[in-house]
Amino acid sequence: MIKAVIFDLDGVLADTAKYHFLAWLSIAKELNIPFTEQDNERLKGVSRTESLNILLSLGNLTLSESEKEQYLARKNKLFVDFINLMSPNEIFPGVVSFIKELRSEGYKIALGSVSKNAETVLSVLGVADLFDAVVSGKMIKNSKPDPEVFLLASELLHIPPHECVVVEDAAAGAEAAVAAGMKCIGISPHPLEKTVVTLQNTGDIDIALIKKL
Ligand code: BG6
Ligand code: MG
Repeated sequence: MIKAVIFDLDGVLADTAKYHFLAWLSIAKELNIPFTEQDNERLKGVSRTESLNILLSLGNLTLSESEKEQYLARKNKLFVDFINLMSPNEIFPGVVSFIKELRSEGYKIALGSVSKNAETVLSVLGVADLFDAVVSGKMIKNSKPDPEVFLLASELLHIPPHECVVVEDAAAGAEAAVAAGMKCIGISPHPLEKTVVTLQNTGDIDIALIKKL
């Protein structure tokens, strides 16, 4: 029986995945690397450093460690500039009421994100108080598809993995959930592998679905 729901952040609670994409697109242009939204799928759920490495491999480019550090800082500045302009109304429709409904039925709620900006985004969206546990990129060594982020969330909630369900928009995230021994609900316009179901929007998840898992 499911007792906890672990939400990914970017692309699940709000459209911050778009801001990561726009920031990387700007870096790709500087480096003259062709970069499409389809390429960007590979960066979802993956750490900032690994994302840069994927981008560089797309352009067959190598950079020194200090050059990499400069691009990583620049990408993060672009992303942080976007999120500082966000407001609570950018949370996806139906998400706050769904989390409140889950809480009122006794489910534990966690965030499982590899973003080092996760705490800031939660506070900008005004939803930090809705989470019993928050795991961000500051707390883990390995990004998705490694299960570390979700296993830590399960530990902090004191709910074993098989009683947790993950909500994810990234292929790497669904893989991480399954590797953690959890079921996964996908949020995507296309069917996501390894999920029990893929829905278009986070607000489309019905509590009846969680109860059936
Ligand atoms: C994930 C995003 O949530 O966080 C990735 O899906 C991003 O696209 C990763 O690279 C790391 O984010 P940040 O904010 O630490 O650069
Ligand atoms: Mg995501």
